[in-house]
Amino acid sequence: MTLIEPTNQDLKKTKKGKKYSSSLRLWHWTSALVIIGLLLTVLINSTLLKNKNSAPVIKKELQKAGAKVTNDQAIKAAHALSGEIWDVHIYLGYALTALLLFRLVLEFFQLTDQKFIRTFKTAWHNLSQTKMERETAKHKLVVQTIYTAFYLLLIIMVLTGLFLTFEDFFAPYKSIRHTVKNVHGFCMYLVLAFIAVHMVGVFLTERKDGKGIVSDIINGG
Ligand code: HEM
Repeated sequence: MTLIEPTNQDLKKTKKGKKYSSSLRLWHWTSALVIIGLLLTVLINSTLLKNKNSAPVIKKELQKAGAKVTNDQAIKAAHALSGEIWDVHIYLGYALTALLLFRLVLEFFQLTDQKFIRTFKTAWHNLSQTKMERETAKHKLVVQTIYTAFYLLLIIMVLTGLFLTFEDFFAPYKSIRHTVKNVHGFCMYLVLAFIAVHMVGVFLTERKDGKGIVSDIINGG
């Protein structure tokens, strides 16, 4: 996701005249959709399809239809329903895994000016060189650091998610499954925090010195 963009002037003119390549934009918006999808599956399973909430509804409806249903049977049916949603979560997880790999490969094929690592180095370099615009340089470095943290977060989500998906394969590491699940679950809050910071950053930048950053990430800039 490349929405916080406080100082986009230096990147404005790349060799091809585009600030963001079409591949990067495609990656950005597809990742945004997939991450929203992943979060929605978690939301559905922790609210509507939480066994505690859905089991009584299932029981009531089946009893209305004349069936004799025990609490255990209703809980099993509720569990199966949330399992269906977890399956969707896993498919979206595979999509996120593919997108992460795509992003890593893309880094090698980006124009030099558009490479993430290059932008980060420039931000770091400007911090020590520029005296007049130290504040701007600092701000830019903070933004780049947040993006780096987000990429690391994605890597953790994908690795822990794959571990949970292929838990049979990782059977020898069964003892850490619980910890892995906790890390995976906890990182969701960091993803949510990133999204919030990202949105606020975009909003403020669009109002101040970075007008047009939203259309840049749509049409390339
Ligand atoms: C932004 C990305 C993601 C978010 C926010 C997210 C969030 C979550 C959360 C909150 C849980 C519940 C954890 C718990 O019960 O303690 C979960 C479970 C799970 N996630 Fe993810 N996840 C993401 C990516 C992935 C990926 C990439 C995969 C791998 C393909 C994956 C596979 C799984 C699996 C297998 C479970 C366990 C489902 C179950 O209990 O049956 N997730 N995820």
